[in-house]
Amino acid sequence: MTMNLKTVLVALLCLCLAGILLGLQKAELPDDMDDFKHINTLVVPDKESPIHGIHHFYLNKKGMNTFHSMAEGKTYPDGTIFIGKVFKVVETEQGRLKEGDMAAVTYMRKQIDSEETKNTGGWHFVMFTPDGTPKDIDPQKACFQCHKPFEKSDFVISQPLK
Ligand code: HEC
Repeated sequence: MTMNLKTVLVALLCLCLAGILLGLQKAELPDDMDDFKHINTLVVPDKESPIHGIHHFYLNKKGMNTFHSMAEGKTYPDGTIFIGKVFKVVETEQGRLKEGDMAAVTYMRKQIDSEETKNTGGWHFVMFTPDGTPKDIDPQKACFQCHKPFEKSDFVISQPLK
């Protein structure tokens, strides 16, 4: 009986730890973000848009080959991470648009075969505050709706600059 209880407790502890680790893996910005390469910039001045802001997109090494050789049916390897640094749009007195403070960080990480990504094309979609705290959003509604039509490029919208 004691043995059984012990086994159950150990099993529970393992499950908890696994849960915590998985959770952290999903909702933490990578430490090696400085090694990511800039791939694209998008400016959305429209204040009503859900993606209002100046977005600088970065990609890690893992996904770089696929990004540059994307073709229909190709998919990104697990561990590919795209980061979007989002900055406020400031209009100057002369009517120019200038980059302001950081507003958020968007994140896509490929992990096929996960319960959490099965409705979002195999990608974790996360939005962080500038200090790296994950925001409480529904990835399917807040993110995937827009990315979903881009199935041909594995739900990635950016394309290499020509
Ligand atoms: C209104 C549509 C829209 C919504 C909503 C949206 N995105 Fe995107 N996202 C885009 C567009 C458009 C681009 C690429 C623009 C470009 O060509 O550089 C993009 C690019 C990205 C990229 C770079 C990789 C890629 O696909 O090009 C990441 C990472 C990203 N979005 C994450 C998110 C996250 C996380 C959310 C939810 C919080 C989100 N997006 C919601 C339209 C959207």
